[in-house]
Amino acid sequence: MKVGIIGFGSMGSMIARKLLEHNVIEQADLVCANRTLSKMDGFKKMYTGSTVTADNKLAAAADVVFVCIRPAELKEVLCGIAPAVSSSTLVVSLNGSVMFSQLEAVLAEKTKIAKVIPSVNAEVDYSVSSVCYNQLVTAQDRRNLETLLKSFGTVTEVAENEMGMASELTSCMPGFIAAIFSVLAEKAQAHTSLLPAQIEAMLAQTLEGTGKLINQKGLSFAEVLARVATKGGITEVGAGEIFESFGNTAAAVFDKTLEKRASVTEKAKQSF
Ligand SMILES: NC(=O)c1ccc[n+]([C@@H]2O[C@H](COP(=O)([O-])OP(=O)(O)OC[C@H]3O[C@@H](n4cnc5c(N)ncnc54)[C@H](OP(=O)(O)O)[C@@H]3O)[C@@H](O)[C@H]2O)c1
Repeated sequence: MKVGIIGFGSMGSMIARKLLEHNVIEQADLVCANRTLSKMDGFKKMYTGSTVTADNKLAAAADVVFVCIRPAELKEVLCGIAPAVSSSTLVVSLNGSVMFSQLEAVLAEKTKIAKVIPSVNAEVDYSVSSVCYNQLVTAQDRRNLETLLKSFGTVTEVAENEMGMASELTSCMPGFIAAIFSVLAEKAQAHTSLLPAQIEAMLAQTLEGTGKLINQKGLSFAEVLARVATKGGITEVGAGEIFESFGNTAAAVFDKTLEKRASVTEKAKQSF
């Protein structure tokens, strides 16, 4: 399988590294394109068999092409590669705000398109990649894309209109979790002489351990809670407070992010 990556920023470079680190494809089967060629110098030194170029069309002539470009520049890049994309190519957009109908209007008719939202947790091979496909994508294309994405985590297919919430739950969530735990650390600090670094280490290890309990032992959130919160005990008091007060914050988080997402989608629509 030949893979092209257009846009060698945070996402594009991560996908390129992961595919080669995990030997999912051969170096010779990867072409990375970026506007600023020098950004790929270090990568090219490490993976001498791969191709780096400033010509997006070279990367577009692959079996699977990841387009890792911000929405403001996306239309121009797609118009540029459209003549180089064949009907057998699967174009993968990493942008959730630009709809299939807009992508299809710019690329040639009958282009196979997928949208993928990975998360920064791919750095530790623990990403949940949300994915959706247009009508032309075949079962074989899906298998090919999943093989690539599974090198850095799991893959969940969702309907196009659910990509927003799926992004909040997977791509934005590492940031939300970090924010929640920053608040917990700050509030704990007010009651203790433990050092900030100690508090952060305790919370981080506990976060990872709780994730493992859920994912490796198959416990649900409710089961974890039941294991810790004995009737009349201290955890029950704290958890009760969270259920009482945190619901409003959680509701506001999704109200605001989805509102922001709708306005970004509208802006993307206008820019197309
Ligand atoms: N970051 C995340 O956590 C995340 C998660 C999920 C989805 N996404 C989505 O993934 C997409 C990429 O995000 P990112 O964070 O990787 O962005 P980024 O770090 O800003 O990278 C964008 C890259 O695109 C390159 N570029 C811009 N115009 C180009 C052109 N005409 N031809 C070739 N390359 C060009 C830029 O090159 P230069 O070096 O010249 O600037 C830059 O390296 C976005 O749509 C974003 O919404 C991001």
